[in-house]
Amino acid sequence: MSEGKPKGFTIWMTGLPGSGKSTLAGVLRKRFEDSGRFVEILDGDEIRKGLSRDLGLSKEDREEHARRVSYLAKVLSRNGVISIVALISPYKTSRDGARELIGKDKFAEVYVKASLLTCEKRDPKGLYAKARRGEITNMTGIQDPYEIPAAPDVTIDTEKGTPEESADLLIDELETLGFL
Ligand SMILES: Nc1ncnc2c1ncn2[C@@H]1O[C@H](COP(=O)(O)OP(=O)(O)OP(=O)(O)O)[C@@H](O)[C@H]1O
Ligand SMILES: [Mg+2]
Repeated sequence: MSEGKPKGFTIWMTGLPGSGKSTLAGVLRKRFEDSGRFVEILDGDEIRKGLSRDLGLSKEDREEHARRVSYLAKVLSRNGVISIVALISPYKTSRDGARELIGKDKFAEVYVKASLLTCEKRDPKGLYAKARRGEITNMTGIQDPYEIPAAPDVTIDTEKGTPEESADLLIDELETLGFL
């Protein structure tokens, strides 16, 4: 009992739709669980079906969505869990708010980087095509802004290498930063 519980923290992955946040979250979950850690993925899409189902895609609603996710990440992280957030979180204010709420010793902002061109080519959910056809009007990267993180703790370029390789790089960086 002397070792106490492992330190929880939040991996806050921000990036354009299709940049690879959810894919990376899945790979990371497996890695951490295999090493005996408790993990929770807070994926924007899933949370929009539940806790944030009353919210839309306006700037105010996206910020409120991020605020709720920040709160969840905070309560999990303070109890030894690794919270993996996969959220577009396009606004700097939201990401800074999350860092503030969760605490900077427990928070790693990870910019999941891929160009708009690449994300649009991947288009895993067909949303870019819909946005180009005008069937949706709030698509981040097309009609809505994405504020690129100016000073993320880690940047993972998903145009280079497989999701497994990206997860390796991210875990290395988290070790270097002292989270693991
Ligand atoms: N190194 C990599 N890391 C992550 N994803 C990659 C990588 N290389 C290619 N991909 C591919 O990019 C796509 C990323 O889709 P994913 O759903 O993870 O994006 P997302 O950031 O969660 O998007 P959204 O914000 O719309 O939920 C997948 O098809 C994945 O296979
Ligand atoms: Mg996703």
